Amino acid sequence: MADTFLSSVSYDNGILKILDQTKIPNVTEFIEIEDIQDAWDAIKQLKVRGAPAIGIAAAYGLLLGIKNAPETSFEDFYKVYKEQSEFLAGSRPTAVNLFWALKRMDERVQIEKARPISEIKNALEKEAHLIRQEDEEVCRLIGEHALTLLKDDMGILTHCNAGGIATARYGTALAPLYLAKEKGWNLRVFADETRPLLQGARLTAWELQQANIDVTLITDSMAAMVMKKGWIQAVIVGCDRVAANGDVANKIGTYGVALLAKAHNIPFYVAAPMSTIDLETANGEDILIEERDSREVTEGFGQRTAPEGVKVFNPAFDVTPAHLITAIITEKGIIKENFPEELQKLFKN
Ligand code: MRU
Repeated sequence: MADTFLSSVSYDNGILKILDQTKIPNVTEFIEIEDIQDAWDAIKQLKVRGAPAIGIAAAYGLLLGIKNAPETSFEDFYKVYKEQSEFLAGSRPTAVNLFWALKRMDERVQIEKARPISEIKNALEKEAHLIRQEDEEVCRLIGEHALTLLKDDMGILTHCNAGGIATARYGTALAPLYLAKEKGWNLRVFADETRPLLQGARLTAWELQQANIDVTLITDSMAAMVMKKGWIQAVIVGCDRVAANGDVANKIGTYGVALLAKAHNIPFYVAAPMSTIDLETANGEDILIEERDSREVTEGFGQRTAPEGVKVFNPAFDVTPAHLITAIITEKGIIKENFPEELQKLFKN
């Protein structure tokens, strides 16, 4: 696998280090975070973003929050631990990986409960590292499975950024593209710019270009035309939450892309690690969709592009209904139909 990946989230010696994704592609800058408030801000401001990376950052952020938690008794410790965990849970509502990672950390606390607090803290650090390490392996497997759905010379459209920097490594939707490159395939990737925050233009185009993958940037409104021209043979996107019935929340605009794919008879694939599947959410209607500051729409990147005082609706995600999805690709394999039953089965294997 090509080794062009930057480690977008890491933790060493009590310091959380993240690649500031708001500065890409102009500046490649890492920031060092030493307290939980700054970790919260980094998640909220999308300095660290993408569902798996948010989960990893939350696990590490929690370590910052409990650094000075009392070691007098488990109750004293756990009170502070809970407060810090709940604080981080309030940073962004849609990507379930955030809650998944915090829950996993809590399960570790419960397992280690009887041990001295200093040992519980050490165990939590190990767990956070494990969450990160496992994500690398998960993304690689997603890439391998996804590749079986693609062929040399295909045109692939993707939306937002589900690449290496949105995960521990490789990405989800972009993972098969890196593997295809290794095999010497010539895929032509079309990256939707992804209004309003331009994750496709700023991040996906940058990432793929660095890896020497053929990438063409288009605005979101051009997707229909490139499909009509016959340039796209598959759409592949990442996601923030898969509900129990197979509905999927992903970056705003994904639903539109899925409808376009259907209209042009193009398969629409969703790459989803198990950590993004939420069987406790029955369907897409129940997924809480983050609404963000109106200025992202009216004056994104510092230039005012709409009249003062105009009403704005700025949801960060939308829901693609299961019936528009050709397949969901996980590290455990690909599911193509009967999503409610097949999703359940994945957790039993
Ligand atoms: O608001 P963002 O940039 O965090 O949104 C990210 C996405 O929608 C991604 O497609 C998703 O999190 C998957 S990342 C592997």
